[in-house]
Amino acid sequence: MPDNVRALAEAARARGIRPLFDDKDRAETFSVRFDGMVFDYSKTHLDAKARTAMTGWATAAGVEDRRAAMFAGAPINETEGRAVLHTALRNLSGGPVEVEGRDVMPGVRDTLTRMQAFAEEVRAGRFEGAGGTITDVVNIGIGGSHLGPEMAVRALSPYHDGPRCHFIANVDGADAADVLKGLDPGRTLVIVASKSFTTIETMTNAATVRDWMADTVTEPVAQFVALSSALERTAEFGIPEARVFGFEDWVGGRYSIWGPIGLSLMLAIGPERFTELLQGGEAMDRHFRAAPMAENMPVMLALTGLWHHQVLGFPTRAVLPYDQRLARLPAYLQQLEMESNGKRVTMEGEALAVASGPVVWGAPGTNGQHAFYQLIHQGTQVVPCEFMVAAQGHEPELAHHHRLLVANCLAQSEALMRGRTPDEARALMAEAGYEGAELERQAAHRVFPGDRPSVTLAYDRLTPRRLGQIVALYEHRVFVEGVILGINSFDQWGVELGKKLADDMAELLAGAAPVEGKDGSTRALLEFMRKTAR
Ligand code: F6P
Repeated sequence: MPDNVRALAEAARARGIRPLFDDKDRAETFSVRFDGMVFDYSKTHLDAKARTAMTGWATAAGVEDRRAAMFAGAPINETEGRAVLHTALRNLSGGPVEVEGRDVMPGVRDTLTRMQAFAEEVRAGRFEGAGGTITDVVNIGIGGSHLGPEMAVRALSPYHDGPRCHFIANVDGADAADVLKGLDPGRTLVIVASKSFTTIETMTNAATVRDWMADTVTEPVAQFVALSSALERTAEFGIPEARVFGFEDWVGGRYSIWGPIGLSLMLAIGPERFTELLQGGEAMDRHFRAAPMAENMPVMLALTGLWHHQVLGFPTRAVLPYDQRLARLPAYLQQLEMESNGKRVTMEGEALAVASGPVVWGAPGTNGQHAFYQLIHQGTQVVPCEFMVAAQGHEPELAHHHRLLVANCLAQSEALMRGRTPDEARALMAEAGYEGAELERQAAHRVFPGDRPSVTLAYDRLTPRRLGQIVALYEHRVFVEGVILGINSFDQWGVELGKKLADDMAELLAGAAPVEGKDGSTRALLEFMRKTAR
């Protein structure tokens, strides 16, 4: 971390946030507006000098060059030797995008056209199951092949006019059993979403759902489609090429909602609305590429994130959408941010000198207020909060609900910053009739330290376009943070070891041979499971 950033952080910590609002223009100058959205980071410790130091850090780390390299299709995922081009999937205005000298856009457009045609067929009832029109879609996939579509289908429920969508992710049979209960196999379309088409959870669930369907449907696989980049494996499963929507290895799983992995969303809201989502993402790409650092929404979101985590040392960040339909956004962002930036070595393989990406967590407001906000307001660790809120809901007849929702969101960020001083707490207790030592004791519990940072992303309405902007905003935030940390945000080696051990463990669980080569705890647990399962 640059020395000037470190020095400015010390001063900022000592000063706090509240005095910064002596500057009457602060809310204006410490926010970024773009296309129906405002990102307000004025309730943070950043002042003009610190912001300049942070943007300087970003420039020195090569964010601009790396950004150009990503959009140009250079293999910036160096540990896997791959380009990173999820942006090509939303490049609707259509300039060429080359990977190793080949324009990938004709392929992207062709797949999108095929998806649109298929979605129309299903939605119009021309593609039928053995029992007639498709009423339900089951997406089988996990991680990036699940979290994005599930989050987006829920987020855009006011636009949902296609078949009902369900998601099976967990290898826990309870997931499949609960989803399949009540579905008509003859009118269900099954999407097997897996970039690799080897993920054990997905392949196990796909086989289970095929068996479930085979009980009543003569040709179950005729109601299956595959979303994958592994065409040989989809063929082995028996899904004909016409019902496979492929993508290339330059689309990372957690960045894949924009292409075939978004098929369940397209079936739900229709191709036109899906295109609006892409347009939102593309608009954010253009902004990200063109806006100067301090006026660049993804850059400033990233820099406030780094400021809180790396510079001020706050270990987690809470994502708090005051938007019930974004209930799955925190889970989506957990994968996006923690799988991308939870790395321990730099791109060169050197130990990371700073902390890796923070723990990301959260839940929608106002529910969270009645659960964990106690800690956020009065706990001893500071949790930077990222609020999100729409000015308009989708239910005009429930506008009074929406006013309360917005009021709560704004009140929380105000309370976090303002706090309540000991004197204010004492006055409150005196008013309630307390005196002396008891007044002091009671007042202490009612003090709020304040000066707790938050940022707010406010937007007009959660439309497909805005959702596209929000998702692309967070993708680019992860990218910028990753470049500054010097890590590869696009691989995920940390998930491999557990997967490998689980394969061995499954064999041990199934067998009866003495358990060897395991630590005492694992051996005892295995033996308990074997004994108790039978
Ligand atoms: O285990 C991690 C992971 O590889 C994620 O990165 C990915 O989104 C998920 O598994 C699912 O992978 P696939 O789409 O290949 O089934």
